[in-house]
Amino acid sequence: MARRLIVRKTGAFRGTIRPPSDKSLTHRAYMFAALARRESDDFTPAVDGPGAVGGIQIPGPGTSIINYPLNGEDCESTLRCLATLGAEVRRISATQVYVTPPTQWVTDPVILDCGNSGTTIRLLAGILAGIEGIDATLIGDESLSRRPMGRITKPIQELGADITGDTAPVRIRGKALRAIQYDSPVASAQVKSAVLLAGLRADGKTTVTEPALSRDHTERMFTALGIELDRVENSISIEGGQQWNSFEFTVPGDISSAAFFIVASLLHAESDVTFNGLGVNPSRVGVLVLLAKMFPVEPVFELLDSQEELGEPVATMTIRTPKQLPAFEIAGEVVPTLIDEIPILAVLATQCHGTTVIRDAQELRVKETDRIAVVTENLKRMGADITATNDGMIITGPTPLHGTTVDSSGDHRIGMSFTIAGTIATGETIIENADAIQTSYPEFVRHLTELSGCAPEVIE
Ligand code: S3P
Repeated sequence: MARRLIVRKTGAFRGTIRPPSDKSLTHRAYMFAALARRESDDFTPAVDGPGAVGGIQIPGPGTSIINYPLNGEDCESTLRCLATLGAEVRRISATQVYVTPPTQWVTDPVILDCGNSGTTIRLLAGILAGIEGIDATLIGDESLSRRPMGRITKPIQELGADITGDTAPVRIRGKALRAIQYDSPVASAQVKSAVLLAGLRADGKTTVTEPALSRDHTERMFTALGIELDRVENSISIEGGQQWNSFEFTVPGDISSAAFFIVASLLHAESDVTFNGLGVNPSRVGVLVLLAKMFPVEPVFELLDSQEELGEPVATMTIRTPKQLPAFEIAGEVVPTLIDEIPILAVLATQCHGTTVIRDAQELRVKETDRIAVVTENLKRMGADITATNDGMIITGPTPLHGTTVDSSGDHRIGMSFTIAGTIATGETIIENADAIQTSYPEFVRHLTELSGCAPEVIE
């Protein structure tokens, strides 16, 4: 992928894509597959050995089949860590991976490189803390090493774990755990999932309460796998010692990735884009709830053909350009349901009539970059009227954007947001460090080219 992208103004976005598979769900599918019950007669078929039929490997019981996993770098980090810990990973094709749980978890000291991925480091910490004999050090890249880990190491310590690190490296020596009741100060699915995963191995019933409901993929997948969970408002409880069998899962498309082309369709007159196989979990569709509020009379999107995959709702979605773009507000409980979409929604706000206010989004400051600071700086450079606040941004529009050089700062969502900004700007917009886009959307440039009919220049 490109080190640098050069983007020019495009026309309408039209066509149909299957957005890349969901990042949060791919991580969980890999991890939960590695935690499934391993059957005694499980086997590892060689390509042309027993178990292989016509060159196709047939998985044994205990092996899970993950269809359409996200092949982005974050999920690859999860897969590599699980393999280092003893799970068997077989990549059958670009769209199918088999994962078999370890016969025995590796207890030699291991260093697990989580790359850029907050979900990998935080959820793995929850998993490993309760596996006796584990001796693991979880590390990450420069960006991940700056992100707060005390938010998971502290509650996992309360479960009795031997875990340290306010930032990476996070050091874990697995041991027996006991259940806790944890009141999380942040609405974070990574924190909630880490505590629930540690709670699965603890003696007793662990409860996590969060200030607002964060994405509930862990809960939905657990329930679909037969795990008993209780949910009372924003509190989730899980009894330790529960196990599940292997499963097959087709990963739905990621609404956080689709959001770039949803916004592009709103920005470019006469756009009409269809997204197939889109994950529409209610705890992730804040962007659609926002659009429904912005356009109460003439809806801009339509959802069709709903189905379910392991408790996750999936649909086809079509979006068309509205006549006018009104300013909007993002605040309160809706924030966790669209937290990853705020950078691209800030780009949208520059073209909306009036003042857009984004509040209660201080979590943006501890993502892959400080997204409040980076979005504000880059949009200012392009001519937007934007002010950063402690917990959000205030943007007044519409203002024309002009091309300039902006840096992704190594953050995939910043790289993609400013590529879309470049499609409405005058002149050339140069995105430095565009290779960060690989983290979650390896086909981004291809989809951009297909939908807009204009190919950005890719400088290796
Ligand atoms: C994620 C949860 C969110 C989100 C991240 C993925 C997950 O982070 O921003 O991209 O897979 O659980 P927080 O849980 O820290 O809010």
